[in-house]
Amino acid sequence: MKHILSLSFCLILFVFISNAQLDKKVNIIPEPSQILMSNKSIFIEQQLEINFSSNISKEHDFKNYIEEYFFKSLAFKKSNSKSKQTKINFTILSNKIDSIGKEGYFLKINKEGIFIEANELGGLFYGFQTFLQILPNEIFNKNRTAKIEIPECSITDYPRFKWRGLMLDVARHFFTKDQVKQFIDNMVKYKFNLLHLHLSDDEGWRVEIKSLPKLTEVGAWRPHRVGKWHNRTNAFSYEPKTYGGFYTQEDIKELVKYAKDRFVDILPEIDVPGHSTALLAAYPFLSCSQGNIDVGIGAPFISWETYPFLVSSKDNSLNPNNPLVYEYLDKIFTEIANLFPFEYIHIGGDECIKNYWENDKGIQELMKKENLKDLEMVQSYFTRKVLKIIQSKNKKLIGWDEILDGGLDTNAAVMSWRGSKGGEKASKEHHKVVMSPSEFCYLDYCQGEKTAEPFVYAGLRLSKCYEFNPVLGTDPNYVLGGQGNIWSENISNQRTLEYLVWPRSMALAEKLWTKTENTSWNNFTAKVENHFHRFDITQTRYSTAMYDPIITTYRDAKNNLIADIKPEVSGLKIYYSLDESIPDNYYPPYTEPVLIPADVAHLKVVAYKNGKLVSKLLVIPIEELKKRVKK
Ligand code: ACM
Repeated sequence: MKHILSLSFCLILFVFISNAQLDKKVNIIPEPSQILMSNKSIFIEQQLEINFSSNISKEHDFKNYIEEYFFKSLAFKKSNSKSKQTKINFTILSNKIDSIGKEGYFLKINKEGIFIEANELGGLFYGFQTFLQILPNEIFNKNRTAKIEIPECSITDYPRFKWRGLMLDVARHFFTKDQVKQFIDNMVKYKFNLLHLHLSDDEGWRVEIKSLPKLTEVGAWRPHRVGKWHNRTNAFSYEPKTYGGFYTQEDIKELVKYAKDRFVDILPEIDVPGHSTALLAAYPFLSCSQGNIDVGIGAPFISWETYPFLVSSKDNSLNPNNPLVYEYLDKIFTEIANLFPFEYIHIGGDECIKNYWENDKGIQELMKKENLKDLEMVQSYFTRKVLKIIQSKNKKLIGWDEILDGGLDTNAAVMSWRGSKGGEKASKEHHKVVMSPSEFCYLDYCQGEKTAEPFVYAGLRLSKCYEFNPVLGTDPNYVLGGQGNIWSENISNQRTLEYLVWPRSMALAEKLWTKTENTSWNNFTAKVENHFHRFDITQTRYSTAMYDPIITTYRDAKNNLIADIKPEVSGLKIYYSLDESIPDNYYPPYTEPVLIPADVAHLKVVAYKNGKLVSKLLVIPIEELKKRVKK
């Protein structure tokens, strides 16, 4: 990104000075395409005049959104026309500028006022989000009396990808309509434009389907469990089913409108043919086993391929040989297509447990009749039939990358999650692709030192998210963009959700909006620190795991155990103890790998920045350190 100091906006003369030398720094995430900074500021009073160009569409609630924001959230007063107040001007350009596309914008702040210009409303919206990030934090003090200082600048900005998504798993844990709205409010600050709602899974069915009422009467509820999700006891038949919930069709319409007003599309996912326990709890005859099953209690997912003996008693997959399955799916997708205006419907397709398929006589006959050589081809047969249903509703199909395995119609799009390979292959086969490889994009994974966080499947640090490059290895012409996924097996409330999502989603946002050459890890983390203050003000939770050092171990030539401690972000001082005491910043600082003597029980580590404790106290048992030895 280019930060440039302009001596004056009136002169054509610009002096180029690096960002580090600017006293007036802005902390915009995602980084804009170009910023021209001035060393001057404007000051805005309590009163504000907002002007909208006359070509701004009346159909969209944009004007209301902006006015509510300024006059309610930021407590500005409407200017009375006699006084000369700062003006903020929103203009749809009558002569379109191709280079900034549908979502790009120009933002200028100078002594004449504040000017946001774009080809379309979406661009004005993103220009406004950038403007909000430029405003100082005092803006949130509704009782402020002093003038607000804003640096003069000129910004040109547009996105790298058109699909900039976050997936929220509302099936494992039900998030209320208001919590989803709050989630959308935070997404749009970082210019995400797609909310993927994972509406069904083994642990819950979350959307009212009027023609199939048992989906929510039965499928939306399970007994409540507290404690470690890994070892939850199964539901007993006598237990009240009090945990769960669902969105009525009116709720969905309200959410779709709320999202649309904020330039967010909602992608609905109904996960089939696997992950269907909640559906099968309501309509058991749609599985091969046809047995009564309960909505899943929320234990970890066990892969059929890895542990076939452990899952043999569960049947969570639809029977692809049962015509009723397609009748029911037609009903479901008819209502889903009517509720969600977005062009795609996600049909899941991941981790389909096929052990009951394998032993089913009807499926064996189907395989002979249709020349399906293996069970992947049986899933592919199922996907083809569902594709027809989806297309009959004038929608496009997208699914997790397993849908590629037995062969896939090119009209179907692929969401790559088992690493990038699925996306790479799909793009080369000319499927549209959305990249969400788990090693960069799975926001339910533990984000810091694993002994200090609840552990979920794997680790994913902020710096790894920041390495995400959605087109690497692909045919980029077919990559729509990417998204972060938040699975909620181990999330039981909004605060934990926020903790997992922020700041890692800021990293993904920057990788999806900003061209790689304009991104920089050190610049990004400095901005993130600034955004933490905003999050404190808005009482949104975030993780400070980026301050928790990364601890690895190895053995030296004499077989001594050595701990290597690395900061994830710059500017940290690390202190440690081996004697069970709690280190602080008066301990000797860590400077080089430490030999761990034989009797040590724990390595304890803290990190300070500018004399302040910023990390957690990490307490790592010696046995854990031994497990980390690099082979
Ligand atoms: C997935 O994580 N099973 C898509």
